[in-house]
Amino acid sequence: MVSVIFPAAGQGKRMQAGINKVLLTLGGEPILVRTLKTFSAVEEVGELIVVVAADEVTAVEGQLQKVSGLKPFQVVAGGSERQYSIYNGLQQVAAAADVVLVHDAARPLVTVKTIQAVIDTARSKGGAIAAVPAKNTIKVVDAEGLVVDTPPRSTLWEVQTPQGFRKDILIKANEAAVADNFLGTDDASLVERISAPVAVVQSDYRNIKVTTPEDLLVAEAFLKCTAEDEARSLQAAAKTAREAWLKEAES
Ligand code: CTP
Ligand code: MG
Repeated sequence: MVSVIFPAAGQGKRMQAGINKVLLTLGGEPILVRTLKTFSAVEEVGELIVVVAADEVTAVEGQLQKVSGLKPFQVVAGGSERQYSIYNGLQQVAAAADVVLVHDAARPLVTVKTIQAVIDTARSKGGAIAAVPAKNTIKVVDAEGLVVDTPPRSTLWEVQTPQGFRKDILIKANEAAVADNFLGTDDASLVERISAPVAVVQSDYRNIKVTTPEDLLVAEAFLKCTAEDEARSLQAAAKTAREAWLKEAES
């Protein structure tokens, strides 16, 4: 059985909405609810552990109870850093779980396909993270602002969530981080520290983290147009452009 921890205890400062951004609506539904519904559509997922700020636990619990079609869920209080929120969630994971996924509640456009691929790879390899190939050239820059390195782009991946691990590995990694006072920027970095393997699972560029106000616009646009629609309209646009070129060449 797979347990999923959803960090949702941030303040959404960069969104500047004055409330926790995962409670904002996207396509008429709160971001958090949209995220939970997608995970509920995955057969192997057995429980949802939603981590919110201590003063939001009761309200979020009440709201989620009104939503139909969710897998069994619990709402627990988070901490001052994302990593501490996940640590709190980890304490609640069912004994029956063999794999634990962590997924930012603020990534409502994740697909069932990506979730399933992360589960399968976490089970076979121990750890798996959703990611996309970097589109831009990335530089390593020193404190003086001078470029010190240009890693080959083919080796660079932008990491997303879900990130999934066999339960024993994720627990061990978190205990080690607590013991060493280590604060990582994602879950896999804790697992890498204990030298356990983490595999990359290719996700898609639509799985954005809603962070700043413009991300909401982008997410709304993605909702209106599925990836299949996008491919079809691109093909149609290419055909029109080609015909226009040919016509111009003839005249
Ligand atoms: N998160 C959390 N506990 C924290 C901080 C963040 O559970 N102490 C969650 C957020 O709710 C979000 C995810 O981790 O779903 C990714 O974090 P981020 O995008 O940084 O969200 P916020 O911290 O809410 O936003 P900001 O940094 O702009 O305040
Ligand atoms: Mg944050």
